[in-house]
Amino acid sequence: MKIETCIMERRSVRKYSEKDVSEEVINEVISLARYAPSWKNTQVVRYHVIKTPQIKADIANHCVLDFEFNAKTITRCKALVVVTVIKNVSGYEKNGDFSTSKGDRWETFDAGIASQTFCLAAHSKGLGSVILGIFDEEKICQYIQIPENEQIAALITIGYPLEEGKVAPPRKTVEELVTYY
Ligand SMILES: Cc1cc2nc3c(=O)[nH]c(=O)nc-3n(C[C@H](O)[C@H](O)[C@H](O)COP(=O)(O)O)c2cc1C
Repeated sequence: MKIETCIMERRSVRKYSEKDVSEEVINEVISLARYAPSWKNTQVVRYHVIKTPQIKADIANHCVLDFEFNAKTITRCKALVVVTVIKNVSGYEKNGDFSTSKGDRWETFDAGIASQTFCLAAHSKGLGSVILGIFDEEKICQYIQIPENEQIAALITIGYPLEEGKVAPPRKTVEELVTYY
């Protein structure tokens, strides 16, 4: 798939077919996502993949801050990916000081780049995905064992899309986005 096609045709997919998503395919997607850039190549992003139906249901039912829309998406997906970052590395000096005025925000930045790379890789392999930002981090940690030194950055649901060729929500024009100096 051409990179332009992949970027333009990737959509947030929230309805999935019953077809299982194998660990092999998920690992292929993560293998591509590994090539996302990161702060000083620290590669702090981790992927906790939930395929067990009961854990997925518990998270859908109890960890979405009552946002039903996300509960439905998690229920429908074939795998729920909890994207985490190892804390206190990206954006930090070795002595623990922040490297820049943006403090710890580079951690989230790295997770964002990795997440989009993950979603593009998933799309290139015929998978649909959506990044979910509305979730209850503390409660998710009651259902899966996230290591102490990690924190959750985002959730990504994946599965084979039920609907193909979704039309992109409107985008701003280049002129609205760019300023040249
Ligand atoms: C940081 C972030 C958080 C998001 N959170 C949610 C969410 O909680 N639930 C959801 O259904 N979609 C969520 N989305 C998906 C956006 O709604 C979607 O990307 C946007 O509408 C553009 O559609 P597209 O991805 O198909 O181009 C999120 C996307 C991003 C990048």
